[in-house]
Amino acid sequence: MPRAAATAGRLAGRRTFHTSEASQRQGVLAGAAAASVLGCLAYCKEPALEDRFMSRQESRRLEQLPLSCAPAELAKRKKALPTLPLSEVQADHGEGVCWVTYRGGVYDVTAFLEAHPGGSARIEMVNGSDLESYWKVYDFHNSRPHIQQLMEEYRIGNLSASDAKKSEALSRDAFSSYYENDPQRPRADTGELRVTSVHPWNSEPLMHKLVESFFTPNDLFFVRNHNNVPDIKEEEWTLEIGRNNDCNMKEISFTLQDLKTKFEKVDVISTLECAGNRQEDFIEEDRPLYVAPHWRGGAIGCAKWSGVRVRDLLGAAGMDVDGMSLGRVKNPKAKIVNFEAIDEDETGIPYAGVIPVEKAIDPFGDTILAYEMNGVELPRDHGYPVRLMAPGTGGCRNVKWIRHISVSERPSELDSGSKLDRHFSPAISWTSHREHCAEDTAAPDWKSPLKTGAGDKTTIVLDQGPVIQSLPVQSLICYPPNRAEIAWDGESIEVKGVAYAGGGRGVCRVEVSIDGGENFHAAEMQRAPADDSRPPAEMGMGRNWAWVQFSQRIPLPADMRALLRKGQRVPIEVCSKAIDGDFNTQPERMSSSWNVLGICVNHWHRFNYVINPKLPKSHVPAAPPTPAPGCYKWPQN
Ligand code: HEM
Repeated sequence: MPRAAATAGRLAGRRTFHTSEASQRQGVLAGAAAASVLGCLAYCKEPALEDRFMSRQESRRLEQLPLSCAPAELAKRKKALPTLPLSEVQADHGEGVCWVTYRGGVYDVTAFLEAHPGGSARIEMVNGSDLESYWKVYDFHNSRPHIQQLMEEYRIGNLSASDAKKSEALSRDAFSSYYENDPQRPRADTGELRVTSVHPWNSEPLMHKLVESFFTPNDLFFVRNHNNVPDIKEEEWTLEIGRNNDCNMKEISFTLQDLKTKFEKVDVISTLECAGNRQEDFIEEDRPLYVAPHWRGGAIGCAKWSGVRVRDLLGAAGMDVDGMSLGRVKNPKAKIVNFEAIDEDETGIPYAGVIPVEKAIDPFGDTILAYEMNGVELPRDHGYPVRLMAPGTGGCRNVKWIRHISVSERPSELDSGSKLDRHFSPAISWTSHREHCAEDTAAPDWKSPLKTGAGDKTTIVLDQGPVIQSLPVQSLICYPPNRAEIAWDGESIEVKGVAYAGGGRGVCRVEVSIDGGENFHAAEMQRAPADDSRPPAEMGMGRNWAWVQFSQRIPLPADMRALLRKGQRVPIEVCSKAIDGDFNTQPERMSSSWNVLGICVNHWHRFNYVINPKLPKSHVPAAPPTPAPGCYKWPQN
């Protein structure tokens, strides 16, 4: 069953529609809209909308951000569109067709449903009504210009002023926040976190915090949520493992106490990085990134995770994990282990993720269900009571708040990564991606409204855009903070950072350059504490789960020192690259690894500083503010 159908099944009271006349008209109009929007890449702000709905703060943020449609162009296009009665918005438009209103506009967002990073069902909830009350909760939609611009691609008409008021009033009480019971996050109040969205909560530590200790403190560790945070009582929770006759598994369930008392407790020191870390590096003036949550570089951390091996749990359910690991038992229908979480969106769709069965049962794979993080009970934001820790895989695989595990031949339809965690070639555009998502579930006679005039359609071949499991080699300069003014000790400056490679490949070296990569020098590295209880993982031998922390004191060249001695402030760019245990390294340029879903971002990392010889040596540089999520321009500091 396609995900949309699964979604539809869960949507109580969802309206279904017929006839395709309206969507054909939408095809023409939105096609023209797309052409017009994509065709003009100047700054735009829409005065009527701003006057009526935007706070001064919102509009100030807009001024910093890229938009791609000139006001005159937008006004012309809006004028050419018909004024539609509200009754038409509320009418049936055909199976799966979805119309919404927003600030006086009418939008047919059918073609966007399957590409929506917040899930199609969340938009389908609004079908025939107004977005305002929904976006009061998910308010980043109102303040991110690329989303406002995206909406314009789907505008098919306008409402009269009275209908606009009526539509907004009708859905005013339709929706409220289900985030009231989210946990407290005190480190956000002290300014140590960059919060990219409050609903759902997504936060990364300011990057310099990453090198203050080898193990990232739990309350600083990045949090990637898709929904509200479940408030689970131990006595109400059980872990269910599904039956699978193909591999002799019976249905079985465990309480948290069972996990703690019936199985060996295992410690694993592992780094976890979100596949979308550094995705803000991909944003350009004319190329926004339409994905959440807009990390800069702090969506990575290292912790000691403790819990029970997944292979022990599957074994307890009846799977011959030793026989399979040794290749003596063949279970061709047991390829994937599915992890389903308790957190759900407002329509009841849970987060879920998959890993290959080999990773789950590998005796050296260290895949556990963790119930402790850095020696204490797993915090709610990190998945209490248990989360998957499949070291070496991307954050999205490591499902939190697990309630159900099953083994299957193919990934479950619920797998949240199948649309958003694919790694495409740089040639795949946002339009291609949207069309591909829509075509996946569209009716046979469906015509994309975006093709007309969009001009950037590149066919997607799924084999060429695999769902990611492990992440590429990465290095991140963390200290001093990017764009800080720093002191000088008369000879050199010092930088610190972290480096990591997925798949257990480990980092064999980190190199740092101050001349744009002409000359690199190896940095000193600090590794995780040695674990005498198991064989050492040699570089490239696949069991190096933790990051390394690096530091480098960089002597400055004579010409720079001369300027500094004269009292002049001197700008400097520092860049880093890591080399993994298989001798893969990071690409130099962003353009060669750019991909539309903003994942596996790992080109050379660059931080810029101004060395100020007048600052005392004891000066501790503060971290200047970073751009708002989705924005490529840095605030002036
Ligand atoms: C109908 C038009 C909509 C458009 C064009 C739209 C667009 C987007 C985009 C582009 C993002 C990615 C974030 C970013 O680029 O900054 C996003 C994320 C999201 N949207 Fe929407 N959205 C729409 C409707 C809705 C509605 C009605 C809801 C909720 C009721 C919703 C909930 C969310 C959530 C929760 C996320 C974050 C997902 C995550 O963190 O993974 N959206 N939306």
